[in-house]
Amino acid sequence: MTKTLVVKYVPRGERSNTKKILTEFKSKIKNSTIEEIDLAKNTPDMFLDDNLMAYIQRDYLKQNLSAEQKNLLSKMDKMTEQVKSSDIVVLAYPMFNFSMPAVVKAWFDSIMLKGHTWNAQDGKYAGLMKGKKALTIVSSGGSYSTGPMKAWEHAVSLSNSEFQFMGFSEVRGILAEGMNGAENTKSSNLAKALEEIQAIAHEWYQ
Ligand SMILES: Cc1cc2nc3c(=O)[nH]c(=O)nc-3n(C[C@H](O)[C@H](O)[C@H](O)COP(=O)(O)O)c2cc1C
Repeated sequence: MTKTLVVKYVPRGERSNTKKILTEFKSKIKNSTIEEIDLAKNTPDMFLDDNLMAYIQRDYLKQNLSAEQKNLLSKMDKMTEQVKSSDIVVLAYPMFNFSMPAVVKAWFDSIMLKGHTWNAQDGKYAGLMKGKKALTIVSSGGSYSTGPMKAWEHAVSLSNSEFQFMGFSEVRGILAEGMNGAENTKSSNLAKALEEIQAIAHEWYQ
């Protein structure tokens, strides 16, 4: 049995466009256990003075940590373990200010730990998450696929880069754009995103 990790930040709840797409994906999951993290409730730690030093000491300088320092990294370690024990990671969030909301970036910062999900040796980077799949689901108010705003899309593109850096073997991203535009644009883009999500779920959970 495979394991799917669902990482969501959809604070608008039932009104959320992103949640509609995620719910469709979840309804198609077969033969897989599901673990879910709600980043709006279970907020990842951010790197501040003491925990950043503990991370560098442990994973770059290979120094022993005190019990107190280990504790400072325990939430990051737990979130990293959730990813490492999964076969498929599904991440869903709305675009905020042309990128991912801060809590989602904090989640990436929590799991992209040297020696755990990626490594560097002799100046070369290597992702350690080989064999795993990652899917990012984003919805946005504006449109980015064509036109003058094309270069402003840093949500799906950043997610894809982060998962690729960690070595995920398959990385997919879906952007349901134009959610704050005309009603017909919104409904046709939402329908397109739902179709895309069904196709990915069908491929991944045959
Ligand atoms: C704080 C905030 C910032 C936003 N920033 C952007 C943005 O930079 N670009 C954009 O296209 N839409 C932006 N939006 C609109 C949302 O991305 C869009 O309405 C999305 O569909 C909301 O997702 P949800 O329905 O899952 O909550 C922003 C919305 C909020 C609340």
